[in-house]
Amino acid sequence: MGKLVRSSADMWVGPGEAVRSLRQLEAEAERRVTDDVWAYIQGGAGEEATLAANREAFRRWTLMPRALVDVSELDLSTEILGQRVHAPFFVAPTAYQGKVHPDGELATARAAAHEGCLAVFSTLASRSLEEIASGSGAAPRWFQLYLQPDFEISRSLVRRAERAGYGALVVTVDAPVLGVRDRQASAGFAIDASLPVGNGHDVVPPPRAASFQGDRYRLRSEAASTWEILDDLRGVTRLPIVVKGILTADDARRCADHGARAVIVSNHGGRQLDGAPASLDVLPEIVEAVGSRVEVLMDGGVRRARDVLVALAFGARAVGLGRPVLWALAADGEAGVRRYLSLLGSELATCLALVGRPKLGDIDRSLLRPSPRGNDRSP
Ligand code: GLV
Repeated sequence: MGKLVRSSADMWVGPGEAVRSLRQLEAEAERRVTDDVWAYIQGGAGEEATLAANREAFRRWTLMPRALVDVSELDLSTEILGQRVHAPFFVAPTAYQGKVHPDGELATARAAAHEGCLAVFSTLASRSLEEIASGSGAAPRWFQLYLQPDFEISRSLVRRAERAGYGALVVTVDAPVLGVRDRQASAGFAIDASLPVGNGHDVVPPPRAASFQGDRYRLRSEAASTWEILDDLRGVTRLPIVVKGILTADDARRCADHGARAVIVSNHGGRQLDGAPASLDVLPEIVEAVGSRVEVLMDGGVRRARDVLVALAFGARAVGLGRPVLWALAADGEAGVRRYLSLLGSELATCLALVGRPKLGDIDRSLLRPSPRGNDRSP
């Protein structure tokens, strides 16, 4: 039996100011961070077509309610890779949370643990993975790995994650180099070795650009990694491997062939390849290709409960939350993230009642119909 719906105040309370909606939360976050950090959080790659597509994709679907269903009890709980969680959404990995709030990932870890949500923490966290683990206690947490130029550094991060009780290794595969991020660059936010990383000086972010040498553009050695890297990682850890950054059915099949236990359908929040499809648009073909072999998760553009429902109806087991968690963190630290996650849970319970599907297991494609208005903002 999962957690029942809690009634929660329909309001955000940021220090000194009441924030009553997600839009206000975003505005409050913008007020609280410097312009360069805001550009880092909000920006995408290039002209931000993929960033916009992630949101537009959700608006193309309407929800078809069923009336007079017993919805007096609502169950939002589910299992992700065998771990019981209170809701089918999780905190997606985002880097450098110390830039967003002084408590950084510690606040996020405590908030997710309080709400019974899975949280994924980045290689590029501002705090060490051990400190973050102490913040989340027994709550489920996963470690996201950026492959390091030296495999020994990757291996040592994986060992540390195992020892610190992380439940899975999330290998990001869409970043052999960082995307070309115009908004971030214009605002002067550079991801490089000058940004403090809690996991140690040896840990480096993906390169910002290829260097031109002789007659070629070259990247660092980890960019040479191919599918065998998943076998190599499996050789050094007992943690289940989750591959993040998959956008095609073929790649999803390869993940399954190389022993991954889950894939995260993701375009990295529109921050890597501008022109890549919206995560939601490719989710159905990936679920069809590998849904019986691995768990399929997704992120990209998820803001509200209605988005969660659409992704679940297409077969996602759970969805990741990136920017809205950062807005909540910026607005009010741990309390802000707790409030966002708890309001999203309440909103999801409300939506389950309104669509006449009291359990997550009742959600399937019969919930969805294409919007006759296509991409406009209604409904
Ligand atoms: C890091 O993961 C980023 O997208 O900036």
